[in-house]
Amino acid sequence: MNDTAADLRFVPLEADDVPTVDAWLRLTTESAEDVPLSAAPHCAADLTGSVRFAPPDTSLAGEVAFLGGQAVGALRLVLPDGAPVAVVDQLLTAPKERRQGIGTALFRRARSLAAEHGRTLLVADVVQALPGGPVRDEGPAAFAAALGATVSDGPEGVHQWLDLDRHDPSADGVPEVPAGYRLQRWGTVTPDAFAIAVSELGQSLGASPPETWGEGPDAVRTSHVRRYERMRVGRGRRAYHVGAVHEATGELAGFTSASKTTGNPEHLLQGMTVVAAAHRGHGLGLVLKLANLAHVREYEPRVRLIETANADDNRPMIALNEAMGFVPQERFVSWEAPVAPAV
Ligand code: ACO
Repeated sequence: MNDTAADLRFVPLEADDVPTVDAWLRLTTESAEDVPLSAAPHCAADLTGSVRFAPPDTSLAGEVAFLGGQAVGALRLVLPDGAPVAVVDQLLTAPKERRQGIGTALFRRARSLAAEHGRTLLVADVVQALPGGPVRDEGPAAFAAALGATVSDGPEGVHQWLDLDRHDPSADGVPEVPAGYRLQRWGTVTPDAFAIAVSELGQSLGASPPETWGEGPDAVRTSHVRRYERMRVGRGRRAYHVGAVHEATGELAGFTSASKTTGNPEHLLQGMTVVAAAHRGHGLGLVLKLANLAHVREYEPRVRLIETANADDNRPMIALNEAMGFVPQERFVSWEAPVAPAV
């Protein structure tokens, strides 16, 4: 390790440690590269909220690396409950301080933190260019490879953007709702009547670990969607939903979810869209997404740029997004490294 890395001081990122949170916020914001359609601009309320509110069924371990009084690096691990992995949510060196071994020191620190939490594998999504797509920095993948990480098995993620100024998929209105279904809108908080169904439909896509679902107020209060909403609200996000109710049974056949940070009036994140297996094949996915876009625009008229991501083997959803005008911009490649490297 060179001298710079040896002089680093790691300070835990804790919500009540305002100077460290502020330093981390500055570092994170300054380090965001000006890459078109890569990420929405950072929102301070969202970032600071993320320190206090972890995603459901996970905990966070973050640290800021200081050199003298200057924050020069940041590291954050997401630790899913009961899993052997530590997900590298953030590992970054301040742009002016790169290629001095700070990233390597952060990676070593990630290994020690992961080991302290009993994890055996580090995993990280690394942004890379799509074949024939816009140029992306090859540094992060080169860095991961230099540290002995390897590309994991399994699908890549495809990050897609829709610019409503270039193409408005709702210009002709929302397609007719298929016979036998009705649409139901809700906002950030899912109505009690749908909380279990939304949690179960989400779980069917592998968004949360298997759980035993019950009924009644306690089941609703502790449901996955309620825990997710707590994080969302804590991060100052607003969400918009449209569900499809199967009229004959009253069941929720599917829903779609979109959300936005407080700081970016033009940016929308298109989240999960799921239709239960028994209700597929009626075109509900497109109806839900377009109806929800109309819903969002009623309350968020400045929304212009919509981002979404899917596993690259989810061809039906990527095809649906392409039909709406989403354009693939980059891929997320999953890398992994053992927490205890072979010597
Ligand atoms: N191009 C090619 N190789 C690189 C690059 C680059 N841009 N950056 C690092 N490397 C490789 C080199 O082999 C380097 O050794 P060398 O300088 O002796 O040639 C080695 O990685 C170690 O580099 P460090 O100096 O320790 O890393 P640095 O402090 O520059 O941080 C990082 C690298 C974290 C990728 C930085 O560029 C960054 O913050 N990028 C934006 C955030 C990001 O994409 N993070 C994802 C990291 S991947 C992961 O977490 C597994």
